[in-house]
This record gives sequence, structure tokens and C-alpha cells, in this order.
Amino acid sequence: MTTVQENTLNDTDTDTGVDTDTGDAAPARARAWWRSATIYQVYTRSFADSNGDGIGDLPGVRAKLPYLAALGVDALWFNPWYPSPMADAGYDIADYRDIEPAFGTLADADALIAQAHARGIRIIVDIVPNHCSDRHRWFLQAVDSEPGSRERSRFWFRPGRGEDGSQPPNDWRSIFGGPAWTRLTASDGTPGEWYLHLFAPEQPDLNWSSPDVRAEFEDVLRFWFDRGADGIRIDSAALVTKDPDLPDLSSNPDPHPYEDRDDVHEIYRAWRAVAESYGGDRALIGELWIPDAERFARYFRPDELHSAFNFPYLCSAWDAAQLRSVIEQTLAVHARVDAPATWVLSNHDVDRHVSRYGRSDTSFGLDRREHGRPVDVGLGTRRARAAAMLTFALPGAAYVYQGDELGLWEVENIPADLRQDPIWRRTGGSDPGRDGCRVPLPWSGAAPPFGFSPDGAPADPWLPQPPAWSGLTVEAEDGDLRSMLELYRAALRIRRQDPALGDGTLTWMPSGESVLDFLRDGRFRCVANLSPTDIALPPHEDVLLQSTDLAEGLLPPDATVWLRVAD
Ligand code: NOJ
Ligand code: CA
Repeated sequence: MTTVQENTLNDTDTDTGVDTDTGDAAPARARAWWRSATIYQVYTRSFADSNGDGIGDLPGVRAKLPYLAALGVDALWFNPWYPSPMADAGYDIADYRDIEPAFGTLADADALIAQAHARGIRIIVDIVPNHCSDRHRWFLQAVDSEPGSRERSRFWFRPGRGEDGSQPPNDWRSIFGGPAWTRLTASDGTPGEWYLHLFAPEQPDLNWSSPDVRAEFEDVLRFWFDRGADGIRIDSAALVTKDPDLPDLSSNPDPHPYEDRDDVHEIYRAWRAVAESYGGDRALIGELWIPDAERFARYFRPDELHSAFNFPYLCSAWDAAQLRSVIEQTLAVHARVDAPATWVLSNHDVDRHVSRYGRSDTSFGLDRREHGRPVDVGLGTRRARAAAMLTFALPGAAYVYQGDELGLWEVENIPADLRQDPIWRRTGGSDPGRDGCRVPLPWSGAAPPFGFSPDGAPADPWLPQPPAWSGLTVEAEDGDLRSMLELYRAALRIRRQDPALGDGTLTWMPSGESVLDFLRDGRFRCVANLSPTDIALPPHEDVLLQSTDLAEGLLPPDATVWLRVAD
């Protein structure tokens, strides 16, 4: 196992297990790394393909570690990298203790972790506790076992309803469309029990009242912590436990039979104990879509998770009043439990924010992807620049989804026969799904595969890249001071160097409607102009960074500026 080397760039790094800590702790060092980190999300399949099969892989990521270090990120979160039939892009895990062969080997992961640590970059792995793959050994054993067996007790098997059991056990629907139940059929054609899957049929839900399940996952956590993982992203964290009576949703059961149930917290208390046994700087980060702020905060009680993704911020329209209300509520909720806020603009499940902010409705909902509506990419890009600077100035940790730093937009015209997302298939195409934000990154060159795969690669990238991305490659943006990439690099450099940024609090300054204006620590001021007119800058000593050229000292619409102000 490796530990993280002190990164000389990272003044606010607060790791407790750092090898070269000098011990001369500045105040900002008193708090843990995950409270301030900029976390870069690596969607391995689409990051960089080292061997030309059209699929990104871990050697590809290793080769790009210098790029990621120079970008200035503190940690990498990898979407599931385990062996998987890929019914849901790896969120259907067949073996939690190995690496998907298309991505590489366990030795590749070990080398990647060690090399990232040597550069001061931490590693977060994605664990999926709600369900596994229907190819996982446990599910294969369960299918081969009798109803009522220990093997079946690890999942949710039930007889069907109706005289011949031909109706599902209840009325739950899959989050990906269609029923949440699939019936087994024996090899001789005899129909059997049904099993629950809140997502695709290839993702059977695990039953967390089984002691086997609890012990297994605690062991999986140890497996990855032992290999050097610094954090765990917990998939679908609030869906994991179920009401054992499995009541129909149409009977309006209260509490909800599978969302945010009270008994889920016991699981994370046990996981926290595992994390703490590694010395206190391993982070647990929940994927929680919980609208109720009080319920959300319960997950960050001192013996539970460390943080979670801020989806209300991601879903907010590009509107100052809405954003301010989300920011205020986020900070208030997190302050009560002393958890760091996080700020997320995009991820592998949502439309890229350049496209969202270029539509007439700039808000987002998982159930309304708005594909096919006009997108003003220029406007979306301008707002994305302003949003990135706003995001990096807010108190807490920030996430960057790969390609955000290049200003990639949502690819809406992927041909039907190339689409892979089960959401698209299971909704008969009525929901376009998530392929459009998962298109392989453009690194260099004037045409696809844009350096994603090596020259002369035998296979095309697994999803087609738009030829128009030729201006958005790393090569094209590198050194162009007007590019998104250089904006991200500059912003992250300041974020690392300025102790005012990252963890802490903010002070709102009086501002016009449609303007977000706040101080961090008294001398760092962020002003985001979401109004349609230029605004005057407050008195300042220096302009640290701007998302758009200032117009004769005025801040134009859809622009953010960072200022150094007098005490
Ligand atoms: C949330 C993940 O982010 C998403 O990609 C996945 O499909 C579901 N959970 C199911 O695992
Ligand atoms: Ca590959």
C-alpha cells in the first residue's frame, strides 16, 4: 500500500498520514483533505485508450497522470472499474475485488494508485452496495438454490402474485423503466420465483438484512483501503435497505419502502468504523438524491459518512436567486453537522452543463433530459466558465467531471444502434439516457479518435466523438489563455495556493438582484454576474482571475471575477 506524498502545490492539503509532513501546521491544515479537495471524476471507459480497442483503460489513465497533476486536482474518483458484463456501464459488478479486463488488471490499479499517490493525488473507488451483477457468484448460486435457501436470502426473491404466480410480487417500477421484478425460469422452462432489481434486471438488489451481505461489503472496503484507496464513493447510498414486507407503492406506505429508510444508517456507521480503523483520513462519500435537507444531514452525523454530492446545486437553473438559495441551504445544513459542502456541476448521469446552460430552461431533472431542444453552445460555454469559477470559490470540496475542463457539451445525436445506456433501451428511447455525457475525451489531432486511442487503432471509440470537438482537444486548448482548460488550470492553481478557498465559510456582500457576491476570509471576493447587463466591480487591489474579459472595468453578463480586496 502507498500513502500520499505531500504535494508541494497543495498548501491546503491536510492529510494526516502524509509521509513528508513538516509539522509546521498552518491553520488551514487542521482539517482533513476531503473537506477542501478538488475531486476529478474519471469515467475510465471514456478517458484514454492505451491499446486501441476503443475502450479507455487504466494504463491510459496512468499515462495521463501528468496531465491531471498539472490540472491541479487533489483526488480522482473512478467509476466502477471491476469485472462487469457492462449491462449498466460497470454498475453491475461481478467481482468487487478485481479489475474489469477491458480496463486492465489489479496490478494496473496498484500501479495507478502508487503513481497517483507519488504525485499527491488521492484515489476514490466506487462501491455499489444496492445491487450486484446477475453474473456475480452469489447471484449464480442463488439461481441454482432452492427458495428459502441462504443463497437466496442474500437477494430479494419472492413468489409471484396470482394463482400461477405470474404477476410480480408488488408494483414497484425499475428506475430505468419497466417492472422492478424479473421471474426466474428453470432450464426445463418451469417458471420460478421473482427477484427484485430497482435498476436493470442484470442488477439484482442485495438484501442487507442478510449478515453475509454486511460482512462481505465491510471486507470489500478493507480490500480497497488495504490497496491504498483514500475514499469510497457509495452508489445509490439511500436505496440500500428495504421494508421486508415489500408493500405496494400504490398503498402509499410510510416510511417509504426503499428510499432513505432509517435502518440504512446502521450500515454506514459500520462502514465508518472500518474507515476509522485506517487512521482517520479515509473518506466515505454518498450518492444521495434526498430532497429533504434535514434527512440529508442525518447521513453526516459524526459516526457516518463524511460528505455527499450536492445535486440541488447541479440541478439548479443558471439563476442567481435559485443558486443563492441552494448555496445558503447547503451551507446551513452542512454547518449544523460540521460536514463540508460539496459542489458539483456535472457527472456521468446528467447532461453536460455547457448544454444545460445553453438551453432556454437551464435547470436539470433526471426525468427530463431536454434533448432535442435548441442549445446555444457559445452562451452555455460562457456560463460554464462563470459557473466553474463560482463553484471553485464556494466553501468545501468541488468535483470536476472529466471533460468539464475542456468545455465538452452533451452529444445528443448518437445513432440509436450505438447507444449503450439501459435507460435508453428500457424506456424504448423516450429517455435518451446518459450516453451523451460519456463520449470519449478528445486529446489531440483534427479528427476522431482525437488521440483517445493510439494512431492506427483497429477499433473506433466505443461511442462516436463529434468532429466539431477538434477545437476542444487538450492539444488545441493547451496554452490558449482563452480556453476552458487554461481557465480551469488557473482557477485550480489559485484554489490550491489561496488558504481562503476550500473549507470554511463565506460572507455575502450586498449586491443587485441576479448577482452573487461573497467574501472568503475578508480578502478574497467572488462576484458572479448573472444579470443581463454589465456591473461595476467593487473596490479591489487586484483582479485574480476572470471568466470573460472585463469590459472597461465592468463585469459583463454571465461572467465571474475573483478579486483581492483590502482588509
Ligand atoms: C447511480 C450511478 O451514478 C448510475 O450511473 C447507475 O446507473 C446507478 N446508480 C445504478 O447503479
Ligand atoms: Ca483500451
